[in-house]
Amino acid sequence: MTKIKGIILAGGDGTRLKPMTDLISKQLLPIYNKPMIFYPLSVLIKAKIKDILIITKPNEQDSFKKILGNGSKWGVNIDYIIQNKPRGIAEAYILAEDWLKNSRSLLILGDNLFFGHGLNSLIRKTLKKKNGATIFAYQVSDPHRYGVVTLKENGQIKNIIEKPKKTKSSWAVTGLYYYDESASRIVKDLKPSKRNELEITDLNNKYLKSGNLDVELLGKGIAWLDTGTPDSLLEAANYVKIIESRQGLLIGNPQHD
Ligand code: TTP
Repeated sequence: MTKIKGIILAGGDGTRLKPMTDLISKQLLPIYNKPMIFYPLSVLIKAKIKDILIITKPNEQDSFKKILGNGSKWGVNIDYIIQNKPRGIAEAYILAEDWLKNSRSLLILGDNLFFGHGLNSLIRKTLKKKNGATIFAYQVSDPHRYGVVTLKENGQIKNIIEKPKKTKSSWAVTGLYYYDESASRIVKDLKPSKRNELEITDLNNKYLKSGNLDVELLGKGIAWLDTGTPDSLLEAANYVKIIESRQGLLIGNPQHD
């Protein structure tokens, strides 16, 4: 079987969480009883991905290494590289090109939390796909904050628009993406956006234009939380606490299956 690698993007300035992020990386802040990065890491580990790359800011790499090490305690290999400046999510594929060695990959944002039954089987099904890319969409009440995917009647993607002012679709593109080995090559053709970032929506639109982008809709049994603001950080912590104490389940634990 071809090796599929995993990337966690854990850089960024975390400006909305200042002053907490002045000293500590956003993705190392606690979500109830674990550092935030445990949650995306456990998604990759449960998908049986063995090679994982963590992309961080220059001065934060050591803290991640202290907490996660080389991954051997969870039976995976963790490597680290630096993103000097937050030049966009799609830049991950330029930074990771040599490390990927033409593998297919699952990219997950270090501040995105996914929980729920059915997610792992959806990911494992997606990883069998040899060509193209897949995005995972989730229905939200405030789509204008996200990349939004509009679907055709047959369930295929009509378009993806980054933070639209008006949209009829409520399907937000989540921070979980699957790409074939062409991603690094395609990103090199992207131009930085007005905010001077290599946009993941532009990469997804390239795949869409060539007829190679699928979408998986995350159902109601799955929760997708982002943790970028003080309110959402607190809500995520409460969510984890409630589920863990009610169900006795450990969520976001890389060891737990
Ligand atoms: P964002 O939430 O868009 O940005 P941020 O984390 O810097 O926060 P803020 O907007 O408050 O300044 O980033 C989403 C995730 O992607 C987060 O885990 C950081 C990561 N990221 C990078 O690692 N590098 C980048 O260039 C960008 C844009 C994001």
